[in-house]
Amino acid sequence: MTSLFEANSGAARTTGLGEIQRDAARIGVGDKAMINARADVNQLLPLKYRWAWDKYLAGCNNHWMPTEVAMQADIALWKSRDGLTEDERLMLKRNLGFFATAESLVANNIVLAVYRHLTNPECRQYLLRQAFEEAVHTHTFQYVCESLGLDEGELFNMYREVPSITEKDAWALKYTRNLEDPDFATGTPEADQAFLRDLVAFYVVFEGMWFYTGFAQILSLGRRNKMVGIAEQYQYILRDESIHLNFGIDVINQIKIENPHLWSEDFQAEVRTMLAEACALEAAYGRETVPRGILGLNGELCERYMRFVTDRRAEQIGLAPIFGEADNPFPWMSEMMDLKKEKNFFETRVIEYQTGGGLDWD
Ligand SMILES: [Fe+2]
Ligand SMILES: [Fe+2]
Repeated sequence: MTSLFEANSGAARTTGLGEIQRDAARIGVGDKAMINARADVNQLLPLKYRWAWDKYLAGCNNHWMPTEVAMQADIALWKSRDGLTEDERLMLKRNLGFFATAESLVANNIVLAVYRHLTNPECRQYLLRQAFEEAVHTHTFQYVCESLGLDEGELFNMYREVPSITEKDAWALKYTRNLEDPDFATGTPEADQAFLRDLVAFYVVFEGMWFYTGFAQILSLGRRNKMVGIAEQYQYILRDESIHLNFGIDVINQIKIENPHLWSEDFQAEVRTMLAEACALEAAYGRETVPRGILGLNGELCERYMRFVTDRRAEQIGLAPIFGEADNPFPWMSEMMDLKKEKNFFETRVIEYQTGGGLDWD
């Protein structure tokens, strides 16, 4: 009996698009691995990583669409002359401007870089769900832009035109650029570390740190009964993103367990430097979005919050805290994250989903 992918190149083995080996042995759980697996990536069962499957189920249970959230109150407030201050408008626009393209950057990284190199079918099942959720998030910014009558060119070009947003996105893009090179393949310590760097840049930094200033800003508006539709949408996005983040953390930690040689002292120091750089970039973004301080937020508090979040993220991947920021300056964020599906914080509506039937194409 030949081994499963003996005749295939390494690339075909990891994509799952190679020749079918008709006489190969059946795979066992022990053949499965996060990266560089020799087992067939097209076979979901038997499951090895229950946590990945559970996150896929949790994502499905959280299904929502932005168009289900009423926008009338937001539209009225946005169009009223003195409903929002100029600083609140600036913050809102720069916040939306960051997310509007950030969701696409994250989605492209999943689909074009991470998916190819993560050689486990239950993780890929989650990535397919996550990719759809990123599409729903991008849809949210299209829907907000259309509802409020915002300048779409301004919003979707902020990642090129607002320096602190450009700096963040450029920092993250350099990590994904390596991986989308068609000649890139995991399998050497250098390449496997490049893949880990990309996971840190996107899951820990982009989704796990940078999104959180943005959530705090919008939810701070919502707590004051301003832009409640957008605030409700951000709560749903936050609920999705907290699973994305935790999936990424589990992926990184599982790769570490299976490949301890990759998590060297030097590499840990490098990851700590990445997190510190990312925190500094976010502090600059905080200053550019709330330059004068509004709604209990200012640049300094945003920076302290990001230092607090950075320390939590470092701990989640097994690193010592970087800043020693013990106190969360926005303690109310934890209640904002405690969103129940049946009834949201702003009590605007109950959302239920059709779970079967109902297709009528006549
Ligand atoms: Fe997202
Ligand atoms: Fe995400």
